[in-house]
Amino acid sequence: MALQIEEITELFHAQGAAQYGGEAINQQQHALQCAHLAEQAGASPELVAAALLHDLGHLLAPKSSSPSGAVDDVHQYVAIPFLRGLFPAAVIEPIRLHVDAKRYLCQADPGYWASLSPASRHSLELQGGPFSGDAAACFIAQAFATDAVALRRWDDLAKNPAAAPPGWAHYVTVLARARCVAPAPV
Ligand SMILES: [Fe+2]
Repeated sequence: MALQIEEITELFHAQGAAQYGGEAINQQQHALQCAHLAEQAGASPELVAAALLHDLGHLLAPKSSSPSGAVDDVHQYVAIPFLRGLFPAAVIEPIRLHVDAKRYLCQADPGYWASLSPASRHSLELQGGPFSGDAAACFIAQAFATDAVALRRWDDLAKNPAAAPPGWAHYVTVLARARCVAPAPV
């Protein structure tokens, strides 16, 4: 069931021009910008790959589900079965946790909610709203939660129509570095 890197590339080529939620950019622009911000911050190849693929679920979710619509498409979970076996937990877990990281930041960072775009505030409500203090503490104690929080901040910034990140070909090499490596035969 796992996709191959070539199939992920085809998916972005075929559907990456779709609008990213209610923002003024498309899915591929958002993915490339998010990965570029991660790269500029010195993130590992695994976390750059997670930044690139964090919204892959939007491209895989049924077309009737929209982040700007009336229902949550649970896109953070939709992509996971297609990535297991291709990428390690260091890629998959930040993707799985990036929506909860928004809910966490609303609790942990007093200025965070006000910084969100209207579309992101709308999806936040569909996704369950801000975490309580206890839920935030439970969230951040999980493995890879701090990576998910970092991804979330890049995600929130990666909505600039004028940005010019490197193209998809550059990030294919990052995906190749981040993928699971079979253990050497003994
Ligand atoms: Fe995103």
